[in-house]
Amino acid sequence: MFEEKTRSKVGIFVFELARTGQLYYLYGRDSDPARKSLTKLFYSLEEVLFSEKVFQLDVSAEEISFEGLPYGDISKEITHFIEVLKGLGVLRMTFFRGVSKNDISGFVNVLFSAPAEGAQGIESRLEKLGIKKIAVGSIGPADQAGRELVDSVKLAKETYHIGREILDDVESAVLGGRKIDAESARDYVDSLMRNLISNKSALLILAAVKCHDEHSHIHNINVAIFSILESEALGLDQDNLREIALAALFHDIGKILVPSGILKKESALSDEEFNIVKKHPVYGARVILANPDLGTLPALVAFEHHLRHDGLGYPGRAFSTDQSLASMIVSIADVYDAMRSRRAYAGEMAPEKIYDEMMKMSGKNFNADLLDNFFRIVGIYPPGTLVETDTGEIGLSVNASIVDKRRPHVELLYGSDKNPIDEPRIVSLFEKDPESGGYKRTILHSLIPTKKIGVPERYRGE
Ligand SMILES: [Fe+2]
Repeated sequence: MFEEKTRSKVGIFVFELARTGQLYYLYGRDSDPARKSLTKLFYSLEEVLFSEKVFQLDVSAEEISFEGLPYGDISKEITHFIEVLKGLGVLRMTFFRGVSKNDISGFVNVLFSAPAEGAQGIESRLEKLGIKKIAVGSIGPADQAGRELVDSVKLAKETYHIGREILDDVESAVLGGRKIDAESARDYVDSLMRNLISNKSALLILAAVKCHDEHSHIHNINVAIFSILESEALGLDQDNLREIALAALFHDIGKILVPSGILKKESALSDEEFNIVKKHPVYGARVILANPDLGTLPALVAFEHHLRHDGLGYPGRAFSTDQSLASMIVSIADVYDAMRSRRAYAGEMAPEKIYDEMMKMSGKNFNADLLDNFFRIVGIYPPGTLVETDTGEIGLSVNASIVDKRRPHVELLYGSDKNPIDEPRIVSLFEKDPESGGYKRTILHSLIPTKKIGVPERYRGE
């Protein structure tokens, strides 16, 4: 039996589905209202599927029911929606965990643009679009076997995609002198938090794979991911976590106002240029204070994220105060992701080298306890890192271990002979050799992916 809470979440989803359909009709699928509504719809579905693996809606003459109980909603959105469904002959809709935003977008499109072809026609159109996690009419459960992590990577990719859209909108609002849509940003942060609970490894793998993405918004999303994980490990409650995540997402917002020629310059910056870059914390705080719906913490973090634990850093402080906890958390995530995304011309850094470098800054740039905590969560070889072990095998780190930051779970991809393994498997680096009593495998070093030895496509979310 589904809980009452689930019932109300499903109700919200049904309403969002109906409303998105209306906006499709009114403004067209590519319009701003339709696009935003689709994102909201996806979040509401994600909320239900977070607790339920599958759920089903039935359509009767006048009502939509869940678990045999009609909702009794007679709003114009729902009444219209029922008319559409009846017209199409869709009498049942089933949603399975793992629905992607693309799936739901395709589904909405099929429902609200289809001529009346009956459920059969809708079924085959969904099939053509490769939508397996939504079924209508009489389709049975889609093939759920295996592929869970791979599916998660696909979902994680969408998390990045949506984040980029949200931050693109923020950027054009700031440049156009308009208000930032704080509600969309908060909804996104909630979705990111949900994804991190159910999809942590997938998001971290993708964070590693995507760290060389040129787009600055990817960095902001990565910083939000790391900040959420660190805050959660500290035991902060959901409300605080949400505010810190929002602050992390907006920490570099002031860079929007720094000329891009300076930000993208590949050679060293002149003193004058660096002085301009150093203004971004002040710019950022100002932008956020002009958008009170974002709250005050993001302004504080934007201002403080380049200050250091020992009081140095920039911008200077008029009087002595300690950096806030949120700023300390965000500054660790910021430096880590910036070091990791360094490109070849700047001297690409191996994760173990980043660990050494950052530990040297412990107690100076960063609070020592927070820094320790950070590496306990991501490990020295974070998920998504290619590693070579002392057996000569090569694999991908897929899950950090909080017990020993040098011993993550590794998916073995290449044997000692460096040839691809037919059936890759995940091993724990805590496995011991019964004869010698020593560890079976220990990581020697990380590897930079090459054409021959790389991260499998299934983990790149492509
Ligand atoms: Fe910054």
